[in-house]
Amino acid sequence: MECKKIALFASGSGSNVQNIIEYFFDNEQVIVDSVWSNNPSAYVLERASKFQVKTFVFGRDEFNNSNLVVEKLKERGVDFIVLAGFLWLIPSNLIQNFKIVNIHPALLPNYGGKGMYGMNVHKAVVENKETESGISIHFVNEKYDEGELIFQAKCPVLATDSPDDVANKIHELEHKHFPEVIEKVLKDRN
Ligand code: GAR
Repeated sequence: MECKKIALFASGSGSNVQNIIEYFFDNEQVIVDSVWSNNPSAYVLERASKFQVKTFVFGRDEFNNSNLVVEKLKERGVDFIVLAGFLWLIPSNLIQNFKIVNIHPALLPNYGGKGMYGMNVHKAVVENKETESGISIHFVNEKYDEGELIFQAKCPVLATDSPDDVANKIHELEHKHFPEVIEKVLKDRN
């Protein structure tokens, strides 16, 4: 496979970002080029810096109404974008220029759409007394959580589970599968 440069987008803690950086650390074919965030105080930026991965922060106007992010990504030779806990809708200029994958902490099409992210998802799953939840990895289009599905994995939700318990199970699934799925998508596209 030709060497691929990926950019990771995240808005919060960034445990998935760290896990992806660690997974590809010694990989000569897949390089984590940079980490991008809308949130200047997101912990993900510290995590990335610890691994000497370059970070960029952008504001809403720059992201939605300019070509700056697209231009910077192209300048850096980025081939592929991974959303790992990134909460803004992706504008069409990014979608037209890059393949983008997202991870969602539920079994889409259930519990997707605007406002359905992070703990909101797990609270809704527990409130509705679901007996299972899971993760969905999908290509990104211009609507929240509606692009083509690539991969899903499930976990049981027990009657005694709190939203935090579900979040922990989901993070475990994400850390186990997300890097491998990214690697496979990159290989298949070569
Ligand atoms: C992850 O569970 C991810 O699936 C979710 O945010 C969490 C980020 O955790 N993404 C969404 O809800 C997107 N709609 P992390 O910061 O520890 O990687």
